[in-house]
Amino acid sequence: MAKYFLLLLVSILAAATSTQSRSCNQVYSVIDYGAVGDGDTDDTQLDGTIKAPSDPNDWKCHGNKYCKQWITFDEVANLVIRGSGTVDGRGSTWWERHNSCKGHKHKDKRVSLRSYVCGKKPTGLTISHSQNVHLEGLTFKDSPQMHIAFDRAEWVYASNLTIQAPGDSPNTDGIHLQHAKNIFIDQSRIMTGDDCISIGDGSSQINITRIACGPGHGISIGSLGIDGENETVEDVHVSFVVFTETTNGARIKTWQGGKGFARNIVFENIRSEGARNPIIIDQYYCDHKHCTEHSSAVKISNIRYENIYGTSRRKPAVHIACSESVPCTDIVLHNIHLEAVDDDDDDGDEPYAYCANVQGHAMGHVFPPLPCLS
Ligand SMILES: *[C@@H]1O[C@H](CO)[C@@H](O)[C@H](O)[C@H]1NC(C)=O
Ligand SMILES: *[C@@H]1O[C@H](CO)[C@@H](O)[C@H](O)[C@H]1NC(C)=O
Ligand SMILES: *[C@@H]1O[C@H](CO)[C@@H](O)[C@H](O)[C@H]1NC(C)=O
Repeated sequence: MAKYFLLLLVSILAAATSTQSRSCNQVYSVIDYGAVGDGDTDDTQLDGTIKAPSDPNDWKCHGNKYCKQWITFDEVANLVIRGSGTVDGRGSTWWERHNSCKGHKHKDKRVSLRSYVCGKKPTGLTISHSQNVHLEGLTFKDSPQMHIAFDRAEWVYASNLTIQAPGDSPNTDGIHLQHAKNIFIDQSRIMTGDDCISIGDGSSQINITRIACGPGHGISIGSLGIDGENETVEDVHVSFVVFTETTNGARIKTWQGGKGFARNIVFENIRSEGARNPIIIDQYYCDHKHCTEHSSAVKISNIRYENIYGTSRRKPAVHIACSESVPCTDIVLHNIHLEAVDDDDDDGDEPYAYCANVQGHAMGHVFPPLPCLS
């Protein structure tokens, strides 16, 4: 039932803003539309709790596309969503179903995630084809799939958010960007079972700062270039991030055989508290067994890592594996210091850096040293 109210709410908002060319700068309060917000009744208020149905059967998804999304704002301009409320996706039954479906994955990952029964899980909040969006203060938890997606959105300001799901919940990215431009993500805590923030195809002018990430898979660009596609990401600035016990930190991942590029990217002022791969570029990304070597790849260039320090849980603290046919160029590491984490079976090994097919240089203090950079 909550879902129906929300759809109503969303259509009210959409209707209201479709007249925005005549009446700009209006703030629409859901309270004016009859919300109560005690967390139990069928309504929303942004200082209350919005709960999704916890039983996937109540979503009535059968073969239609609507289960990709829960709360959606499409073609909205000048939208403000602000408050201390919680959006609770109650996704645990979806995750159990997902885990019991393992091994039945369709060979195309995107198809399996988006439309096959085993992977069909809704995103918490989707904002698409929209401009000038402010999202502030809210808590998002336990989404069946990604928590927040900005898809074909521009001039988005997301700040002071808390996103929280268990570290082993599948595909629960915190914030996902796709064809997103001029996006500012500031001062947020993200604890998830997948990427804290993932930056997908067509994204540019992205500024991410003051983020606490972990558990999770880090802040990732990609994966780009699946199935030979031409995908691009450029002008990304990530700063003042703490990665705590994440599987990756600053990550760029691309598939073999893709086209396009990831370029003009800065990761700076980052602390790693036991991330497994604090700095990683992987041009051989593959999540299934049958990936083959190709002669084309998404081109990675002009990437700067600066002031990155802390501990790494894996001994290759820096892992930069670029394509043989399309090497990474203009890769700069400047003032890096990553120690091995103190673990129980301390074998005294120093951390090291792995790199292949990388052109660029190291500046200032860089530890562990990169054999491939001068
Ligand atoms: C962040 O959001 C919380 C509500 O979730 C609010 O109480 C707090 O004042 C906000 N902080 C800032 C700096 O806006
Ligand atoms: C990113 O945003 C921060 C905070 O607003 C700002 O200080 C910084 O200059 C911005 N960086 C870029 C490259 O736009
Ligand atoms: C890939 O897309 C970019 C941006 O849309 C374009 O500039 C480039 O020419 C395309 N490359 C190929 C190989 O199609």
